[in-house]
Amino acid sequence: MSTARGEFSSRFGFLMATSGSAIGLGNIWGFPTNAASNGGAAFLFTYLLLAFSLAYPALMAELIIGRHTRANAVSALRQLATGPVSKKVGTGVGLAGLLTVSLILSFYSIIGGWMVSWMLEAITSLLGLDAAALWFATDAVPRNSLFVLVFMALTIYVVSAGVRDGIEKWSTRLMPALVVLLLLLILYVFTLEGATEGLRAYLVPDFSRVASPGLIVSALGQAFFSLSLGVGTMLIYGSYLSSEENLPLTGSMVSMLDTGFSFLAGLLIIPAIYVALANGVQIYDDSGALVAGPGLIVSLLPSLFDSMGMVGALVALAFFALMVIASLTSSISMLEVPVAYTVETFKTQRSRAAIVIGSTVTVVSLILVFNFATLFDFVVTLTTEYSQPLLGFFFAIFVGWIWNRNEVLKELQKGYAGAEHSLFWKIWPFYISVVCPLAILAVYVQLIFF
Ligand code: PHE
Repeated sequence: MSTARGEFSSRFGFLMATSGSAIGLGNIWGFPTNAASNGGAAFLFTYLLLAFSLAYPALMAELIIGRHTRANAVSALRQLATGPVSKKVGTGVGLAGLLTVSLILSFYSIIGGWMVSWMLEAITSLLGLDAAALWFATDAVPRNSLFVLVFMALTIYVVSAGVRDGIEKWSTRLMPALVVLLLLLILYVFTLEGATEGLRAYLVPDFSRVASPGLIVSALGQAFFSLSLGVGTMLIYGSYLSSEENLPLTGSMVSMLDTGFSFLAGLLIIPAIYVALANGVQIYDDSGALVAGPGLIVSLLPSLFDSMGMVGALVALAFFALMVIASLTSSISMLEVPVAYTVETFKTQRSRAAIVIGSTVTVVSLILVFNFATLFDFVVTLTTEYSQPLLGFFFAIFVGWIWNRNEVLKELQKGYAGAEHSLFWKIWPFYISVVCPLAILAVYVQLIFF
């Protein structure tokens, strides 16, 4: 069985694919807007703390389960189960993760599609094709539908090609390009008027806001979404990782890359917001709140790029190319979850599974496009704020309470001699069995009752 499964060819490939999954719209779109609406530096510091104290342990749980069971989330949790009840719960959690990640993909592909269309806007305006540029820039159902199709087709194409020839190959090409583009953009924005003020808002904390409960809820949700947790994505990528790799080390690299990237995206977006303000662009809505969420990237940033004159179109092209890359390496990791399940459970051909499941998700995306005002926010909230943390809770329970601790240690010792004496093994088991579930539960209770 294990020879028929894909495996990443190198640690670098695994790192690129996994951080490719983690780094996406959540980092470039979610994190900076969350930070900007929650007191800048106060959010940054809370986020950093939670990312390493809660999200990293949860990431490790998924990676360890995946590598040990070498299976998709549903079969993996069933394998770990010790009795009929935990088997049922395992199946339920695995399937709920699969459904959640498919729904995440259905809204993610809409924003991914916008990014493709704005990239084409930049290209057409560089070429002087103003009518086409206007069409790409205008938010409308036909445009959005078309680009959902384009974005999903790209995702399906990569996933059909499999682990090494698809996911790994494209992630290793795209991720380094992403970092270079981001750094160039940051350097550029730093030269503009207003950027220093933005930097100050981002890096100098207002400590009175650090403890606010709303901020903690958003920061934890952000950390879970950003590390692709709770839906079986990291589990399936872990299942393609070689047994020679040191898991805690590789996992911490992924966390650092993801958090580092969010930090960098903040260095770009928050100063950019202040630059836009200095240019007279409206960045607060009528109620005085920041134009956040999807509105930020597709209304604020294009007006910022416009205000740069001719060079603006080039910068816009670079920026939206970056967004397309970042969202594609994430969307492939989402589609991989139901595809791996289908291939392994029903022995379906990979490309057929990718096409059938990808098309189904596309239909759901189109339903969202046609009913954007009523459905979009609902699906985002349902999946990322409710479903992801709750599923993360169950993953932690499986590793912390159901799976035999000696077995966990044995898995860890592969690729990590002396794991039993490590600091990781002194802290992590307690974290994953007690701290993570309680913290998630606390956030969840708050979400529902407050
Ligand atoms: N982590 C991705 C991002 O930050 C989103 C994602 C969520 C990917 C869940 C896979 C699974 O954009």
